[in-house]
Amino acid sequence: MHEEMAERLNLPALEKGWVWLVGAGPGDPGLITALGLQALAQADVILYDALVDEQLLTLSDADKIYAGKRAGVKSCKQDEISDLLVRLAKEGKRVLRLKGGDPFVFGRGGEEAQALAAAGIPFRIVPGITAGIGGLAYAGIPVTHRDTNHAVTFITGHGVDGKLTKMDWAAASRGAPTLVLYMARKFAGEISRELIAAGRAPEAPAAIVLNAARTNQQVIVTTLAGLAALEAGNAPSIIVIGENVRLAAELSWLTSRA
Ligand SMILES: C[S@@+](CC[C@H](N)C(=O)[O-])C[C@H]1O[C@@H](n2cnc3c(N)ncnc32)[C@H](O)[C@@H]1O
Repeated sequence: MHEEMAERLNLPALEKGWVWLVGAGPGDPGLITALGLQALAQADVILYDALVDEQLLTLSDADKIYAGKRAGVKSCKQDEISDLLVRLAKEGKRVLRLKGGDPFVFGRGGEEAQALAAAGIPFRIVPGITAGIGGLAYAGIPVTHRDTNHAVTFITGHGVDGKLTKMDWAAASRGAPTLVLYMARKFAGEISRELIAAGRAPEAPAAIVLNAARTNQQVIVTTLAGLAALEAGNAPSIIVIGENVRLAAELSWLTSRA
């Protein structure tokens, strides 16, 4: 089945000594791309992240190395991951670096690609569906909608020092009607206060999508002020602030039809 698909779609092969940086999408294993499946079928070794659905790994006989980083859990250092990718490729392995969502969206895929480029290792980037778009779709929230927002800003709440990202929050607030925040739950209160201070209405619609596109997905619809009351927790979550959140009432489909 896979070989027929690969042939019909004329998919390139994952060759020896190459690294493919592949996005697995958020949650639902069905969201991986055809190129991602090709890599799973052909890899000798897979380095995978915490947010990759384990079902996907069962599709491959390759050696599997956990390279995850999750809040509160002992994690691999980024340099070690990059060094390992380079070493495995130099050994002539076909290497799949499997990351949650899209490798180039708040996923440090750029840093890994830089390490490969510097070491002269051939690589391919296979984009994936990012949580801030696909995860919202699973919550019935279109990331853009003609009636609500013509622009969107993606922000990580988590700064390099582990604190709230240092940025001009007032400018971010003015920049686009809809803000989509990754790694922001811990800082939801601070973000809410920054945006209200910048002039956003406290009653503006907001939502948090926990475990998006997973069987245990949870969507909490609240207001910008209400974000401050969110409980702490480790489940991966996306926060969205903007009028497009109201569409969830009409377009929510996963819980009603699952
Ligand atoms: C290190 S970032 C990786 C983002 C990933 N590269 C992407 O494009 O989705 C991890 C953060 O992505 C978000 N995330 C990833 N998967 C998610 C999911 N299934 N549900 C909710 N949020 C998710 C969360 O904010 C999580 O803390």
